[in-house]
Amino acid sequence: MPWLASLLMLTLLMLTGATAQAEEARDVERLVRQDCGSCHGLTLKGGLGPAITPEAVAKYDDETLAEIILDGVPDTPMPPWRALLGPGELEAIIAYLRKGESQ
Ligand code: HEC
Repeated sequence: MPWLASLLMLTLLMLTGATAQAEEARDVERLVRQDCGSCHGLTLKGGLGPAITPEAVAKYDDETLAEIILDGVPDTPMPPWRALLGPGELEAIIAYLRKGESQ
C-alpha cells in the first residue's frame, strides 16, 4: 500500500514544518529569561551581570538600551546580540525589560 507510506511521509513533513515555525516565533519572554537570565539572573535581578529590572534600566533611554543589546558592552561578558535577533525582537526585548516580568 504505497499510498499509506506517502500519507505517513506527508504527515511527518507537516509535523516537522510546524515545529520549525513554532521555533521561529520565539517567545520574547523565554528569550529574555533564558538567554539574558543566564547572566542577569532568572528574575533579572542580577547575577554575573547587573539587574535589568524596569527600575535598573530606567536610567537608559531606548536608544542606549538598543546599543547595549545590539553591540554588547566591550571588555565585559555582555555579548552583542545583533546577529541573533530577528526582525522586531530588539523592540520586543526593550518593551519586555521596561514592563518587567511580573506583569
Ligand atoms: C554572558 C553573560 C551575559 C548575557 C548572556 C547577557 N548579558 Fe547583559 N550584561 C552582562 C554583563 C557582565 C553586563 C555588565 C557590563 C558592564 O560591566 O558594564 C551586562 C550589562 C547589560 C546591560 C546594562 C546594565 C547596566 O545597568 O549598565 C543591559 C541593559 C543588558 N546587559 C541587557 C541584556 C539583555 C537584554 C540580554 C539578553 C538579550 C543580556 N544582557 C544578556 C552579561 C550578559
